[in-house]
Amino acid sequence: NYYAILMAGGVGSRFWPVSTQDFPKQFHDMLGTGDTLIQKTFHRLADLIPKENIYILTNERYNDLVLEQLPEVTQKQVVLEPAMRNTAPCILYASLKIQKENPDAVMIVAPSDHWIEDEQAFSKNVKQAFDFCQENDALMTLGIQPTFPNTGYGYIEFDKSASEDIKSVNQFREKPDYDTAKEFIAKGNFLWNAGIFMWSVKSVVEAFKGNQPSLYAHFEAGISAYNTEAEAAFIEENYPKAENISVDYAIMEKSNNVYVIAADFDWNDLGTWGSLYDKLDKSENGNAVVNARTLVEDATGNMISTPKDKIVVIDGIQDYIIVDKDEVLLIFPKSKEQDIKQTLQKVKDKF
Ligand code: GDD
Ligand code: MG
Repeated sequence: NYYAILMAGGVGSRFWPVSTQDFPKQFHDMLGTGDTLIQKTFHRLADLIPKENIYILTNERYNDLVLEQLPEVTQKQVVLEPAMRNTAPCILYASLKIQKENPDAVMIVAPSDHWIEDEQAFSKNVKQAFDFCQENDALMTLGIQPTFPNTGYGYIEFDKSASEDIKSVNQFREKPDYDTAKEFIAKGNFLWNAGIFMWSVKSVVEAFKGNQPSLYAHFEAGISAYNTEAEAAFIEENYPKAENISVDYAIMEKSNNVYVIAADFDWNDLGTWGSLYDKLDKSENGNAVVNARTLVEDATGNMISTPKDKIVVIDGIQDYIIVDKDEVLLIFPKSKEQDIKQTLQKVKDKF
């Protein structure tokens, strides 16, 4: 009864110029390990879940990339979205499809672009959650010990008195402002949301029905078409009209049956060049280098990514992102890494 939804529809624009609209970061070997991020994620899940029950949700334009990179997956498992509407519509749509196939399904929803080192600990936590979801009406997440007031994450306040591995959640708050995030961290009983969810298909569908009735009705209207030939036409027509909202705002913030397991593994959502820098081994000068051959004088703290064996000579540069990809050379201070997305918006019409 185990199923997975792998979300692979994002664009990863803060990883420009390596990640682009045509070739987003989940399809790249960002860590230089020989596997792309989506391949790593798929294999991590395939330890626990029958391969044929792993659905990949992505934009129509990435269909070929998915089939190419995951040859063990059939077209039926690649669920295509005609437009990007964020995570709530894609999760609801896929959940309704899975429910039609197997009303007793227990599933995990996972991003395709995260870094998780300890796969055994990951499997252990997911298995714990699956066992709990099988017995309880629960929306479960994996929580990460926060280290600084990051405003790009969801925060989970767990019940202080709970002592078991599975804690009930008092409050789920998506992307609080900086001061609130600081307060949360000071309180001690908050975790970051890793963005990895587990629930029975029944529970998640109920959560949408109760908290997002119009979104639910929108997709439920096509239910008789799901898993038939008529599905594509319904989705083509209706998917782009769905509200653009993330699953965190749509159901996690609003439900009172949320539970969390504090992750036993190291996690990094590889959201920015700086987070990649943190994860990679550093050269003796303290630079993180992907593919380049660097000749370094007085330079440290830099994130350098180039085509294979490109020689990079640097001197007097600290804490920069230096990325050479096709026709683009990006040189950007690490401290401003969040701005790459906006900068790309500003410059992209100029070339
Ligand atoms: N298929 C599909 N379609 N996938 C999508 C879409 C879509 O329209 N939009 C986003 N995704 C994928 C992204 O590629 C990513 O893997 C995942 O869904 C989450 O989306 P993000 O856009 O990266 O979310 P976020 O980083 O702002 O926030 C989420 O993740 C954080 C941890 O990384 C939230 O769940 C936060 O609460 C959480 O802390
Ligand atoms: Mg993200």
